Amino acid sequence: MYGRKGGAYLPHILTSHVLRFQFLNEWQADYLVNNQLVVYHSVEMMNHQRSNYCFLSRSIMLIIGAKGFAKDILEILQQNDELNQLVFYDDLSSDVEAELFGEFPILKSMEEAEQYFLNVDARFSIGIGNPNLRAEMYHKFTALGGLFHATISPKTEIGHYGVSIGKGCNILSGVKISNSVEIGMGTMIYYNSIINHDVVIGDFVEISPGAMVLGNCKIGSFTHIGSGAIILPGVIIGDYVKIAAGAVVTHNMPDNVMTAGVPAIIKKINYYN
Ligand SMILES: CC(C)(COP(=O)(O)OP(=O)(O)OC[C@H]1O[C@@H](n2cnc3c(N)ncnc32)[C@H](O)[C@@H]1OP(=O)(O)O)[C@@H](O)C(=O)NCCC(=O)NCCS
Repeated sequence: MYGRKGGAYLPHILTSHVLRFQFLNEWQADYLVNNQLVVYHSVEMMNHQRSNYCFLSRSIMLIIGAKGFAKDILEILQQNDELNQLVFYDDLSSDVEAELFGEFPILKSMEEAEQYFLNVDARFSIGIGNPNLRAEMYHKFTALGGLFHATISPKTEIGHYGVSIGKGCNILSGVKISNSVEIGMGTMIYYNSIINHDVVIGDFVEISPGAMVLGNCKIGSFTHIGSGAIILPGVIIGDYVKIAAGAVVTHNMPDNVMTAGVPAIIKKINYYN
C-alpha cells in the first residue's frame, strides 16, 4: 500500500501523534495516529485534521459542474482559502455564463479540461449531486487524466481514530463524523449531518442536510439518504436505495427500493429500473 515511483515522500515525526505519512499518486496518505491507521485521500483532509502541520498547500482545481452543488463546493474552498485559479466545468447547460459569479472561469469542452489537467493541475472535484452522474463524471474525467479530489469543510468534526474517507468525497460544514467510520469514494455529505461510530458507507452515496446515520449502520453504494432522515443503530441499507426526507429507518432495506415514513416502509421496489 505504501510507496509510489517518483512520488513525494514526506516523513514527519511529531510527538504523540504522527508516526509516518506518505503520499501516493492520488493524494492518498496513510497516517498513523497512536497506532491507529487512518487513510486520508487528500492533502486537504489531512491538513483539516492537523491544520497546525500545514506543509503543502495547493489551491488550483477543476470543479465539475457550475450550478447547484458546485456552489456548495465553492463555499468549502472559500472556507479553506483555496480560490486561487479555481475553474469550473459545464458542457451541458446552454445558459451557463463565461464565469461563475463573474469571477471563476467555466470551461465548456473536454478539450479545455484536458488542457487544464495537462498544464495547470490534474485535480478535480465533482460539484454535482446525483450519485449516478457523479460516478459517470468520475470515470469520464479520470480517463482524461484527472485525479479525483476530496473537498472537506474545515467546519466539520472528524474522529481521530479509525476513520477512512475515500477519494473525491465532498463534506460540507457542520457535519460530525465519529470514530471507526469508513466512507467510500465520491460520497457527499451535506450540511449538519451526523455519522456515528462504527459506520460503513459505500461509494457515491448522497447524504442530505441534517440526516443521521447512527452507530453500526451500513449504507450501500449509490444510496441517497433524504434530508433529516434517521437511520437507527445497526440498520443495513442496500445499494441504490432512496430514503425519503424525514424517514426513520428502523429495519434493514434491500437494494433498489424507495422507502419513506415513520417508521419507514418500502414504497417502491426496482426504484432505479
Ligand atoms: C422520496 C422522494 C424522492 C419522492 O420519490 P418518488 O418516487 O417521487 O415518490 P412519490 O412522490 O411517488 O411518493 C411515493 C409514496 O411515498 C410517499 N412519500 C414520498 N416522500 C415522502 C416523505 N418525504 N415522507 C413520507 N412519505 C413520503 C408519498 O406520500 C407516496 O405515498 P403513497 O404511495 O402511500 O401515496 C421525495 O419525496 C423525497 O423525500 N426526496 C428527498 C429530497 C431531499 O432530501 N433532497 C435533498 C436535497 S439536498
